[in-house]
Amino acid sequence: MKKTWQTALVVGASSGIGAALVRRLAAQGCRVAAVARRHDELEKLAVGARTAGGGGEMLPYVADVREPQSVPELFETITGDLGGLDLVIYAAGVMHPVQFEEYDTAKDLEMLRTNLSGAVAWLNPAAQRFARLKRGTIVGIGSVAGDRGRSGSPVYNTSKAGLHTYLEALRNRVARYGVKVVTIKPGFVDTAMTKGLPGLFWLISADRAAEIILTKARKGAVTAYVPARWRFVMLIIRSMPSFIFRRLKV
Ligand SMILES: NC(=O)c1ccc[n+]([C@@H]2O[C@H](COP(=O)([O-])OP(=O)(O)OC[C@H]3O[C@@H](n4cnc5c(N)ncnc54)[C@H](OP(=O)(O)O)[C@@H]3O)[C@@H](O)[C@H]2O)c1
Repeated sequence: MKKTWQTALVVGASSGIGAALVRRLAAQGCRVAAVARRHDELEKLAVGARTAGGGGEMLPYVADVREPQSVPELFETITGDLGGLDLVIYAAGVMHPVQFEEYDTAKDLEMLRTNLSGAVAWLNPAAQRFARLKRGTIVGIGSVAGDRGRSGSPVYNTSKAGLHTYLEALRNRVARYGVKVVTIKPGFVDTAMTKGLPGLFWLISADRAAEIILTKARKGAVTAYVPARWRFVMLIIRSMPSFIFRRLKV
């Protein structure tokens, strides 16, 4: 595989899709900064990246994306440690189980802080840096869940819809400088987030998702459904009139 990026930052890198992205980037010879809260998982990932060969390296950074005030300094540290920055991927996310008649504001706000506010805190400095340098790629991991307001998980959906809109707006700001912003909308991926959930279908591995995501990012896609067949499903779901959609218990 051709090495497109020398240096990368993955936020939300300790498990699932983020960890798979780190493994693939390191295997392609990239120096990758990996951010998450679980130090032990990041350490295991760093050892794996060292022993897998491929010439890459993984640098672990423990941080909580719900603390935006720590980002500017850490972002500077990371770019210094990496010796540059070509690619930033925001993969951090939580999807707390929500009962149909539950309205737990604390739980909902926590999802927004992780999935949306955290993305803004990490991708704003990335966009600013890339616009100044007139190059770079930003990838945000949204979800098919952000394409419609489902009754089952109102605020997870909202956080992803907000992320999609934020990424589109960033793209419209920085495209003129040659900076790419890629919105990724995965379907079901086999990770801790989906473990034990009923009704999953077309489940793909985190590694397969990472492979598709990096291919789409390399091509500078605008929005990519992962895998691509979700585009057609979501076209139908998005075209469904509200009075019909509301009857579906999703
Ligand atoms: N799995 C799916 O079917 C699916 C479908 C569509 C979209 N997605 C999206 O894909 C992304 C990755 O999810 P996943 O499926 O790979 O789940 P996962 O295995 O649970 O990974 C979530 C990642 O986010 C990090 N994270 C969560 N809260 C954080 C915080 N406060 N600070 C720093 N990092 C935090 C976790 O690290 P720590 O816990 O170590 O902090 C972990 O590395 C998420 O944005 C998710 O919404 C997943």
